[in-house]
Formats: sequence, C-alpha cells, structure tokens
Amino acid sequence: MSDIGVTVTQHLLSQQQEHGGATGAFTRLLNELILSAKIISREVTKAGLVDILGFTGAKNVQDEMVQKLDEFAHDTIVRRMAQSRHLCVMGSEEDADPIEIPPQAETGDYVLLFDPLDGSSNIDANVSIGTIFSILRKQSTCLGYRMEDLLQPGYRQVAAGYFLYGSSTMMVYTTGNGVSGFTLDPSVGEFLLSHPNIRIPERGKIFSANLGYWDYWDQEVQNYFRYLQRPDDTKPVYSCRYIGSLVADFHRTLLYGGVFLYPADHKDPRKPHGKLRLLYECSPLAMVCEQAGGAASTGHGRILDVEPDELHQRVPLIIGSAEEVKLAERYFSGQPN
Ligand code: AHG
Ligand code: MN
Ligand code: MN
Repeated sequence: MSDIGVTVTQHLLSQQQEHGGATGAFTRLLNELILSAKIISREVTKAGLVDILGFTGAKNVQDEMVQKLDEFAHDTIVRRMAQSRHLCVMGSEEDADPIEIPPQAETGDYVLLFDPLDGSSNIDANVSIGTIFSILRKQSTCLGYRMEDLLQPGYRQVAAGYFLYGSSTMMVYTTGNGVSGFTLDPSVGEFLLSHPNIRIPERGKIFSANLGYWDYWDQEVQNYFRYLQRPDDTKPVYSCRYIGSLVADFHRTLLYGGVFLYPADHKDPRKPHGKLRLLYECSPLAMVCEQAGGAASTGHGRILDVEPDELHQRVPLIIGSAEEVKLAERYFSGQPN
C-alpha cells in the first residue's frame, strides 16, 4: 500500500519544530486557512453546475463588479478565520474596512490579509483563479487592533502564499525558510507535498504583461518591452504569456522562470500606480518569490520595503527571475543595458 506522502499539516509541524518555541498557534491558524481553501476549491470545481457563476450585482471598494464566487470565498474565509482564536484583525480585498474579530470570539497575535479570489474576471471562462494570503504579527499592545497592525511592510510577514484552483488545486507557501508546493488529492482531501523547495530559474524566456495598456506606459517602460521583442541574437527570444489571473501568471513564472509585470499606467487616471494591491497581492507573492531566489520590485525599489499608507494601496509590480527583474529595473529607471 503506497504511502500518501507528506501532508501539509506534517510539513507545517516540522517547520514549527525547526522554529524552536513556536506555540502551534501559527500551525492552527494555517490549518484553518487550508480548510477554507478546500471549501472554496469545492465550489470552484462545481461552479459551472450550480448558480454560483456571474455577478452579485454589487460593487466592491475597488469599484469592481463582485462575482458570486468572490463573495463566497470572502465569506468562507472571514467566517472560519474569525473563529481561529489567533487573529486580532483581518483585511480583505472585498471589504473597504478592516474586519474585526467578533466580540465573543477569542483573539490572538496574528493579522491576516487576503485576496479571497484572484482572477475573478476569468471565473466564467473556467480559467485558473486563486486565493492569496499574507500573515503578520500584531504590532500594537492594545486590546483589539490598530491600523499599524495591518499597514506593515512586506519584510515583516511571518508567512505568505497562495492557493491555485486550476487543473489541480495547489497550495504554495513560505514561512521564511524556502518555498514548498502541495497538491490537493481529492480522494483523501489532503494537500500532499508535490514541489519541495521550489527555486525560480535565474533567467527566463517568458514575459507576462497586458500589452493592451501600451499607450498608458512611460517611454522607459515601452523601451523595455521593445527590447524584449527585438530580434537580436545577443538576447534570448522571449515569448509573451498573459492569463490575466495574477496567481496563475505568477505560478508559471515561479516554476518556469521569466518575469510578470503590471506597470504603473501613469497616463491612465484610474491606475496611476497600476492595478495590483500591495498588502494582499504584491507583498505575499514578493515574499514567496524572494524565498525561491527571485526578486520583486516596484520598478524603483523592493516591494517588501514599501511602507504602506492605506489598506488597498496599489503599487506597480515587476516579479520573477532575479536577472529579469534587474534588467527591467534598469530600463524603468532610464539606463538600459
Ligand atoms: P482580482 O480578480 O483579485 O481583482 O485580481 C485581478 C488582477 C490580477 O489577477 C490580474 O493580474 C489582473 O487583475 C489583470 O488585470 P488586467 O485585466 O487589467 O490585465
Ligand atoms: Mn487579485
Ligand atoms: Mn480578488
């Protein structure tokens, strides 16, 4: 009888043992999040069969139409994590304000920021979507929480990762000791270690960006993309791949190498800092990418060093193979190689 391999819970416990003195609160917190993702995965896989596709008719703080699955994923995570006993506050893409822990529930010393469903515009087309999460330690000493607990730079994250609801459901996470990938085995309902110690290639031949915004980009950004597409035997021939779900585009970049970019659309008043949100999209993926040997930049500085001003702050994102991010930064700051 073949053993099923290492479950994510066993992996978490072994990481906890290496983290001498960890109380197990963190492991329990992540296990609750894993259960939430299994519930979301179940709804996503049958979305085509039940009335959970399409829009709710409401708009969220991002002024975007809310998909039913967005709302389902958000509600599932909030309901479960509020009872996890280890959070003092949560922040979600789908809620304008911080989400307080109900008065009757026990609170703890961690903060959870999350994008409940990333890539929503792709749901009805059965394209891969995901959930992104970031875990921080509470900073304030008061009961309850302060905004400073949520508005922390990415280098303070204690864990970060994502769930990818694709041809299989995967979990990829880091606690600062490298990156591990797990694949859900629906027959036993467990995430099993499938990608131990993920390392992103130094270089890659895939760039991922929505070239439809070309006219909104600065000259330096356009010069960078012109270089990538220039036929020149001194450089690799790059392919362009863009799924439109950040988690799926990032996961491919992490495994194959290359670079994903969502630049600032400086000439578009709706997205002068780009579209992606710092606290629950860019920071968690930046931690995963750096832990796998890659890099993540705003184009002018490290994503993990950005000091947040507000919960839904947007930043430009360049993320992927270290050498590819460095090349993009050189172009973005006007000094091509
Ligand atoms: P979300 O569905 O959580 O709002 O995120 C969507 C994001 C991200 O997944 C993707 O990279 C980006 O939107 C695509 O934006 P464009 O359609 O502007 O390219
Ligand atoms: Mn998103
Ligand atoms: Mn989302």
